[in-house]
Amino acid sequence: MSNVFRFLFLSIITVLHFVQPICAHLQYPCKPPHHTYQFCNTSLPIKTRAKSLISILTLDEKIQQLSDNVTQIPRLGIPAYEWWSESLHGIATNGPGISFNGTIKSATAFPQVILTAAAFNRTLWNEIAKAIAVEARAMYNLGQAGLTFWAPNINIFRDPRWGRGQETPGEDPMVTSAYAIEYVRGFQGQNGRGVGGGNRHLFGERRFLKNDDDDEKSGSLMLSACCKHYTAYDLDKWGGFTRYDFNAKVSKQDMEDTYQPPFQSCIVQGKASCLMCSYNRVNGIPACADRDLLQKARKDWGFKGYITSDCDAVATIFENNNFTKTPEEAVAVALKAGTDINCGTYMLRHMKSAIDKGKVSVKDIDQALFNLFSVLLRLGLFDGNPSGNQFGNLGSENVCSSEHKKLALEATKQGIVLLKNNQKFLPWSKSEVSSVAIIGPMANITNIGGDYTGFSCKPESILQGLQNYVKDTFYAAGCRDVPCNSSDGIPEAVSIAKEAEYVIVMAGLDLSQETEDLDRYSLLLPGHQMALISSVASVTKKPVVLVLTGGGPIDVSFAERDLRIASIIWIGYPGETGGKALSEILFGDYNPGGRLPMTWYPESFTSVPMSDMNMRADPSRGYPGRTYRFYIGDRVYGFGHGLSYANFSYKILSAPERLSLSGYIRADSQGHILHGRGNGLDYIRVDDVAYCNSLRFYVQILVNNNGNLGGSQVILLFSQVPKYFKGAPERQIIGFDRVHAQSYRSAETSILVDPCQHLSIVNEQGSKILPLGDHTLIVEDMKHTLSIET
Ligand SMILES: *[C@@H]1O[C@H](CO)[C@@H](O)[C@H](O)[C@H]1NC(C)=O
Ligand SMILES: *[C@@H]1O[C@H](CO)[C@@H](O)[C@H](O)[C@H]1NC(C)=O
Ligand SMILES: *[C@@H]1O[C@H](CO)[C@@H](O)[C@H](O)[C@H]1NC(C)=O
Ligand SMILES: *[C@@H]1O[C@H](CO)[C@@H](O)[C@H](O)[C@H]1NC(C)=O
Ligand SMILES: *[C@@H]1O[C@H](CO)[C@@H](O)[C@H](O)[C@H]1NC(C)=O
Ligand SMILES: *[C@@H]1O[C@H](CO)[C@@H](O)[C@H](O)[C@H]1NC(C)=O
Ligand SMILES: *[C@@H]1O[C@H](CO)[C@@H](O)[C@H](O)[C@H]1NC(C)=O
Ligand SMILES: *[C@@H]1O[C@H](CO)[C@@H](O)[C@H](O)[C@H]1NC(C)=O
Repeated sequence: MSNVFRFLFLSIITVLHFVQPICAHLQYPCKPPHHTYQFCNTSLPIKTRAKSLISILTLDEKIQQLSDNVTQIPRLGIPAYEWWSESLHGIATNGPGISFNGTIKSATAFPQVILTAAAFNRTLWNEIAKAIAVEARAMYNLGQAGLTFWAPNINIFRDPRWGRGQETPGEDPMVTSAYAIEYVRGFQGQNGRGVGGGNRHLFGERRFLKNDDDDEKSGSLMLSACCKHYTAYDLDKWGGFTRYDFNAKVSKQDMEDTYQPPFQSCIVQGKASCLMCSYNRVNGIPACADRDLLQKARKDWGFKGYITSDCDAVATIFENNNFTKTPEEAVAVALKAGTDINCGTYMLRHMKSAIDKGKVSVKDIDQALFNLFSVLLRLGLFDGNPSGNQFGNLGSENVCSSEHKKLALEATKQGIVLLKNNQKFLPWSKSEVSSVAIIGPMANITNIGGDYTGFSCKPESILQGLQNYVKDTFYAAGCRDVPCNSSDGIPEAVSIAKEAEYVIVMAGLDLSQETEDLDRYSLLLPGHQMALISSVASVTKKPVVLVLTGGGPIDVSFAERDLRIASIIWIGYPGETGGKALSEILFGDYNPGGRLPMTWYPESFTSVPMSDMNMRADPSRGYPGRTYRFYIGDRVYGFGHGLSYANFSYKILSAPERLSLSGYIRADSQGHILHGRGNGLDYIRVDDVAYCNSLRFYVQILVNNNGNLGGSQVILLFSQVPKYFKGAPERQIIGFDRVHAQSYRSAETSILVDPCQHLSIVNEQGSKILPLGDHTLIVEDMKHTLSIET
């Protein structure tokens, strides 16, 4: 990091709690006496208004727009605007657009995304995004937030060491796509487009629909969500690499079937109004300077919105990547590539000189301004006082409402994953448990929120939550903190553990181990945590329950093997409701149903360089591959692992056995059917399949609850292509749903499958092909063969 850059970075951190001084008459644009401009006229189309505003700005005023922190233009009645607000899993303090120093002092802290993802419940994801949006609009109305937010983070959790994997929905592109769609639709207020059950909206649809006129109207966007970080960004600081200069070398095949699908879905189906380009280079070119990459979103996916750089990711083009010879060339290449604003001041400082040197034309700037103003206009920012619009009534009573707090608790409960439960040790019966000891530094922390957290409504520790359930709850830290460098606290923990009837040890990770700019080197528990667990487990009257915190996978194979550790529960970063959620699960008031959205690798995986972006295994060089789709090594817990107190069984009720493509394949000009031959087996290029939509079918699945406890169950539908295709995934998820079944009752779901999207694979050239032959559909231990023929 250069000094200049370090300074920029620090200056960003120090303004976390910055509150914009707001002059009364300049709080909102287009208020009298500044309401007569053409850009204020709500009867005109967005395009006309945006162009009109651009036409009356001076060059200096235009340049001022190219930063997240836009200064006011008093002569036009336009107040300052801060583009950067954050809302990953609730309103966060990370963006200077947010202030908790006003009427609203806190906001609902939903669990960190990786835990919410583990619920595999689209309705839940959508409702959370809607709730955050309501709180965000309320804060905007009170001058405490902007309207443009930089979430969700939809990079693939490619490597278990990544410090920001916790912010993502996990390692699977299809699940991440589904999450992106729900988040963006819920957050931007595009309601009534359906949510929930089965695969109601398919991911990665190839042809986008023309944007409805609706999207072009002012006030049609409740808020703006941002798909980040585009693209192949999933390394923060590891080995000699930092995210600011890492060159992600990505094959066409991996790009097409792993890194890009979430972004495509976020834009095509989610209709996100913002895209953030990442710091890293992609095959040599810094993402924010890569015109092909950025314009692909507009040309191929119909993106209508603005592109922001990650913070100072224009500076890094020159400062860290030496991609250009001067700062002026860096701002020029970014702007021309399609980066509309730069988070930071780099464009502000170098744009004028870039124009003087002929590197940038005013037309380039106008194009960026058009994208920026169009989004602000769609948000209704130029429609006068927000109290006049449909969201104007939202205020402090809509933040931390009982409804939102209940939803946060629901999310935590739905996400928590029961990893191990020997001999049905859990749930505990309330009447039998007279005393509990809880051990571990994290138990007495009130904010297990993970990255991008704000101030929660009613902070409560796990210890407090448990005390509400069991009066006799004892606590010992065992370790001073999560790094646990000293074993001094173990004797005290051991003596408390001896006295209690039941014992819980809380171990795992916090932000001292994994966060922005901090990847891990080991997958083992930090410091003396393992010794603490084993010491405690060796003295207790009954086996212990191990509760794990953190977003990244941990190698706890010692605990999986240890019979003195009966149960293991992963709670991620649960936010403000962890204590209550965990207690309800321990005592059987809630039956856990979460599933891991990422593979838990053993420590031996750390011999794989984190910088190797290849997804596919390559045994010839000892490379084991990544994620459940390609990884061929041992695992501590697999993707999708998660137990329940109930005993479920499954049945595939209906699915086709044969699918004929005859009549659906495009012919070439000579009337020959276009299909290729790969390794002796036929396949059809997906582009050559006409009317894919009419080939869609449903897989109907029945779940029986054979136990005496009701519960919800996640159904993951996987497919496997005929084995012999080089580079084909071991299996891949093609649909999922979460259903509830009462005890001794059954539940059903139907999952819509589009063969072109779900049963296809990507070849080495980056094209989608549909293998012919026997595909296998898999739900838990049930298999169904589907033959695709011509
Ligand atoms: C909050 O605002 C008050 C009054 O304007 C100010 O004194 C205080 O420093 C602010 N606190 C923060 C954290 O910004
Ligand atoms: C707003 O634009 C409409 C449509 O062009 C026009 O009829 C109307 O007079 C304009 N209103 C104002 C206040 O200029
Ligand atoms: C935004 O810009 C204004 C004026 O240029 C400056 O006073 C303020 O400190 C900046 N705010 C941030 C958060 O950088
Ligand atoms: C960029 O150049 C500087 C100094 O010329 C050098 O120290 C640095 O290693 C270079 N960085 C890259 C990514 O090439
Ligand atoms: C929990 O932490 C709080 C605040 O750090 C401290 O005051 C309290 O004594 C701790 N509780 C126990 C039981 O150690
Ligand atoms: C704990 O140990 C690690 C590794 O030995 C070291 O990097 C860290 O600074 C230590 N932390 C404390 C608080 O002593
Ligand atoms: C689960 O239910 C099935 C079907 O009723 C039964 O065969 C099996 O033994 C049960 N398993 C457990 C662990 O209870
Ligand atoms: C999915 O989430 C919604 C919203 O929290 C909830 O009402 C529903 O019960 C959940 N579905 C299942 C099967 O758990």
